[in-house]
Amino acid sequence: MVSQRAQDVTPFIAMDVLERANELEDVIHLEVGEPDFEPPDRVFETAIESLRAGNTDYTAARGKPKLRRAIAAHYDREYGVELDPDRVVVTPGTSPGLFLALAALVDPGEEVVLTDPHYACYPNFVRTVGGEIETVPLRAAEGFEPRTADFEAAIDETTRALLLNSPANPTGAVLDGETLAGLAATAETTDTVPVVDEVYHGLSYDAEEHTILEYTDEAFVLNGFSKRFAMTGWRLGWIVVPPGYVEAVNRLAQNVLICAPNFVQDAGVAALETPPDRLAEIRETYRKRRDRLLEAVTDWGLDLGYTPQGAYYLLVDVSDLPGDSLEIADLLLEEAGVAVTPGVDFGEGAADYLRLSYATDIEAIEEAIDRIGAVLQTVETV
Ligand SMILES: Cc1ncc(COP(=O)(O)O)c(C=O)c1O
Repeated sequence: MVSQRAQDVTPFIAMDVLERANELEDVIHLEVGEPDFEPPDRVFETAIESLRAGNTDYTAARGKPKLRRAIAAHYDREYGVELDPDRVVVTPGTSPGLFLALAALVDPGEEVVLTDPHYACYPNFVRTVGGEIETVPLRAAEGFEPRTADFEAAIDETTRALLLNSPANPTGAVLDGETLAGLAATAETTDTVPVVDEVYHGLSYDAEEHTILEYTDEAFVLNGFSKRFAMTGWRLGWIVVPPGYVEAVNRLAQNVLICAPNFVQDAGVAALETPPDRLAEIRETYRKRRDRLLEAVTDWGLDLGYTPQGAYYLLVDVSDLPGDSLEIADLLLEEAGVAVTPGVDFGEGAADYLRLSYATDIEAIEEAIDRIGAVLQTVETV
C-alpha cells in the first residue's frame, strides 16, 4: 500500500503537459522552465578535466571547500554580503536543498506559509516533511508582490517557516529590498524562519535583486546552477544555512544525499567565475522575449495587469475566455500546437491564468504568438 504521504503528493501538471505535448507533432513548448542556453564553455572543459583527473568519488557531504568558498565569494561580489563558507552546504540541485531545509526546520504539524500563486512543487515538499500549509494571497494589480501584513496575519503559534521565491515562478515578480527587510523583521518577532528560493537570481530585467541575507542571518537561502548558468541536468545547487542549523543540515545531507557529484562541483566553481557580460547578454535576450510576449498578450485582447520583472514566465489572465485554465491549455495544445501550463498548477490564486515560459528562442515564440492569436480569434469571450 502506497504511504499516505506519497498519495498526498499531487502531479506536477507542467510535466504532465510536457509528456502529452511530446506525443503530438509540431508542438511549440511554452510550458517548461528550462533555459535554452548552453552553460559557458569553461564549465564543460572544467567538468571534463575533472573527470579525467579521476574526481569521481564521494566528496564531503557539505561539498568541496573550493566550491563553498566560491559560493561565499559570490554573495560578497553580488550583494556585498560577507558569508562564512561554513554556512554553505552544496546539494545536487536546489530541490534537494529545499527538502533538507524543510526537514531541518519543520516538525510534523507545524505550518509553513506560502504565497498563492507559488511554485507548483512547494506544497508537496511541505507535505512530505509532515508540515501544514497556510497561504497568503498575491494580487496581479500589485505585481504579485507579497504584503508583509498578509504574512503577519497568517502567522500563528504553529508557524515555523515563511517560504518565499524571488524572482518568482510562475509570476516573474521580484521582491524588493524593503519587502525582504520587512519579512525578515516579521520572522524575527514571530520566531519563524524565512526560507527563500533564489534560484532565478541573475534573471531580473527591471528590478534590482536583493538576497534576504542582506537583512538577516536567520534565513535559509536556496540557490543553484540550473537557471542562471543553464545547468539543469548537471544537478548542482546549494543552501545557505542559519548558523544554528548547520550541523543538522550537514547530518541530513550525509544520510540522505551523500554528496553532489564530485566533478560537477568543480564545474560549479568555473560557472561562478563566468565573466558578468555573458549573463548580461542572456538577460537581454530574455528581456526582449518578455517584451514581445507582453505586446502579444495585448494584441490577443487579453490582460496581464502587471509587468513580470524576472525569471522567464508570465501569468496571463484568461478568466474572460470560456472554460477553465485546464480547458484553455488543452485547446491551445490541440488546436494551436502550443503547450502552456494551466495556472491551477500554482495554487488557487492562479486558477484563472495560464503560465507562459519564454525560455524558448524568439522564432518559436513568434510562431506561438501567431498560432495562439489565430485560435483565440475563434473563441468568444464571456
Ligand atoms: C522556483 C523553483 N525552485 C526550484 C526549481 C528546481 O531547481 P533545481 O533544478 O535546482 O532543482 C525550479 C525549477 O523550475 C523552480 O522553478
